[in-house]
Amino acid sequence: MAFNNEQFKEIMAEFTIDSERLQEIAASFRQDLQLGLRDVSLSSMRMLKSYVGLPSGNEKGEYIALDFGGTNVRVSKIRLDGNGKYEILKRVGRPLIVPGKYDYICKDATAEQMFDFIAGLIDEAIDGDRETKYYLGHTFSFPSTQTDLNNARLIIWTKEFATQGVEGEVANDLLLAALKRRGANNVEPVAVLNDTVAVLLSAAYKTPDIYIGSIYATGHNTCYLEPSIHDPNCFGSGGMILNLECGNFMKLMPNRFDKEYDEGSEKPGEQRFEKMVSGRYMGELLGMAIAELLGEKGKKYGLTSIDMSNIVLDESPNLFKASDILMAKIGRELDVEDVKKVRELVKAIIIRSARLAAASFVAIVWQRAGSGKIVKQHVAVDGSVYEKMPLAKENIVKAMGELLGDDADKVDTILDNGGSGLGAAIAAAMAVEK
Ligand code: GLC
Repeated sequence: MAFNNEQFKEIMAEFTIDSERLQEIAASFRQDLQLGLRDVSLSSMRMLKSYVGLPSGNEKGEYIALDFGGTNVRVSKIRLDGNGKYEILKRVGRPLIVPGKYDYICKDATAEQMFDFIAGLIDEAIDGDRETKYYLGHTFSFPSTQTDLNNARLIIWTKEFATQGVEGEVANDLLLAALKRRGANNVEPVAVLNDTVAVLLSAAYKTPDIYIGSIYATGHNTCYLEPSIHDPNCFGSGGMILNLECGNFMKLMPNRFDKEYDEGSEKPGEQRFEKMVSGRYMGELLGMAIAELLGEKGKKYGLTSIDMSNIVLDESPNLFKASDILMAKIGRELDVEDVKKVRELVKAIIIRSARLAAASFVAIVWQRAGSGKIVKQHVAVDGSVYEKMPLAKENIVKAMGELLGDDADKVDTILDNGGSGLGAAIAAAMAVEK
């Protein structure tokens, strides 16, 4: 059965954001930001305090960095040498889920199981050493209310995590209890931070002119340095970094696929922006659109963002590779014209995602500039979608250019690879050195 052309065009239109709409989205994001600065309950974003500003770049010492925010947990031992220099002395990592073996992120898993697993990994990173005193920075990449740099209480799981007994709890209390159960009393968590904040710290440690940090991966979220917030408990300089939790931004128009996906998701009504932008969801949206084109509405094919990358990368005239991927996932052979259409759809979904991310970056740049001039700056971004997904980065650049006009040359995006780990070590150093 060949796709219906009209239906295909209509679906493509659903995933297209023209320049005018892009301006509206950026303006509405900025407005939501302004509302939140006045009174956070007025914004759809959580705009969470991090109790940290910019590092000096001269932080020094050896720290343990825990990076917990996706299915892979990583622990590193990092030595900061100051002057923006550092060395990763050891790195270990393991997934929280291995299908058929264990799963610490499902509803049946408990907080204790999850944190015992993480404590085990920390122990591996320090080679079971019980003598040396280790300070630990914890990148905990879920929306959490902070009362200081070391105390973050999980508000709600995102990214389809469902482990019981963690929502409403203080992440580092759970971690500390697990370290104690293991006898690793010499490891002391001293800082907890969102991954976006970690990326901003990490990038700012190495490079000047960075005020915005973002993750564009399984999840999507951005933070920025807000100069107007001062707090005696805040470390670092320049004000306080706010973790926007903009994955929860709501003041935009989801299409019918976005709505349908959201309704069937782990947390309906939450993270509407993230469900349109991040890698965790793009493959699902694509699958829903293909199911509609094939008259199999409701069927799930398990398409992922990696499949999408591979489909785009197949530039051969017969699209053999793309056809094979689709055959394996959809369970039937599509004729080449339809494979071409799927490829167009994949591109449209990626481009939409990139344009939405760009709109949020520019909104923050505008907000920071206020009525003054936009300063020269880089937006630091980490994450597999930004780094590896074809079309993502170039469409962020293009969309930022459309939005910024004459100021386009003042703002660019830079990759900060591994910032989640390095940022945790920097935060720990800032906490310990003060
Ligand atoms: C989700 C989390 C957020 C995190 C982002 C990227 O949006 O809620 O805290 O920064 O994923 O990992």
